[in-house]
Amino acid sequence: MIEADAREDLLVRGYSRRQLGRIAALIGGGAMLAPLADAAQAQSNAARGVAGAVQIGANECWTGPFPEAAAAAAQILAQGNRYDPGDHRGALLKTVAAVEQVPEERILAWPGSGDPLVRSVISFCSPTRGLVTADPTFESAWRAATWLGAPLAKVPMQPGKGADVRAMLRANPDAGLYYICTPNNPTGTVTPIADIAWLLANKPAQSVVLVDEAYLHFSDAPSALPLAAARGDVVVMRTFSKLFGMAGMRLGLTFAHPDLHKKMMRYDGQQVTGTLPMTAVACGNAAYPMADAIRARRAEMIAVREATVARLARHDLRVHPNSQANMIMVDWKTRKAAEMQAALLARKVQIGRSWPIWPTVSRVTIGSVADMRAFNDAVDAVLA
Ligand SMILES: Cc1ncc(COP(=O)(O)O)c(C=O)c1O
Repeated sequence: MIEADAREDLLVRGYSRRQLGRIAALIGGGAMLAPLADAAQAQSNAARGVAGAVQIGANECWTGPFPEAAAAAAQILAQGNRYDPGDHRGALLKTVAAVEQVPEERILAWPGSGDPLVRSVISFCSPTRGLVTADPTFESAWRAATWLGAPLAKVPMQPGKGADVRAMLRANPDAGLYYICTPNNPTGTVTPIADIAWLLANKPAQSVVLVDEAYLHFSDAPSALPLAAARGDVVVMRTFSKLFGMAGMRLGLTFAHPDLHKKMMRYDGQQVTGTLPMTAVACGNAAYPMADAIRARRAEMIAVREATVARLARHDLRVHPNSQANMIMVDWKTRKAAEMQAALLARKVQIGRSWPIWPTVSRVTIGSVADMRAFNDAVDAVLA
């Protein structure tokens, strides 16, 4: 059921009454339409580990939460009968506000960041207000836009570079949403804050910019959070699924002006953000301020990433430069990515997928030292 004011807003944004019915079905928990459901299923299959294989396909962390954070989660388990014993959700928001220096009223916590990502597309796009993204990038926004019937513009990325914000604005000068993933999944490349600021300064006032910082903790790049703290047209997303090692626990954050958050929440009255898994909330609250541990984990990942890339130099392939995240893009040149993925899986190494724009390039997540040694050994064997 879509409330009257939201219905009015959607009609103004160019929806037909028939399309409103489809949105109500999507957001209200009704059956998803088949193409969207199939694509989502494909992604969740990709994230599922193959038993017994080295799992470097889903950009997860190679290890679990920081031990102190895991202990905080374990401690709250016995109170699992309570929705939120003692306002742990409020404590998390206070912690995040203090660490990031963003007003608490601009922060929401979610069960992961996948929900607010798709919700942003549904909230700010329409059949007349499109979505603009780089290509390749994390695809779930594409599927939501396609389902909505919103125009979708994909702007090619140059290997080794961030999003081309000027080309993004040219591709649709009046989009509902510009999505920038930085560091980008799958390239790991960073879009400079100056470019994001340029896009904000030059886009129409009613367009929203979504900055997905899922991998930011793996880099030294500055955050777009000061923009979300000061403006009314930017959403910044974070997740605990990557460096914090909590992908299966489900916790994410958005930072935005309360009016933008209100638009994203209008369909379910904050049901999703109001009740979260308390084990994840306690774990995230303990982990978020652990600056030294975050830095150490980042340094560990970078060392393993550089060693992996150095060993790949034995072969006639090309690693795209400048990844600042826990992934690399390996161009097998003469071989299709899907073929290499299957050949490596046969050797019990599960690497990531490829994107249609670069069919010979695979995304490989940086795992532990042992994971990456197994990966390099398998590549040596397959390409021998
Ligand atoms: C760029 C990006 N954004 C968002 C997500 C969603 O992750 P989660 O829902 O686990 O926070 C992912 C997952 O891989 C991602 O790569």
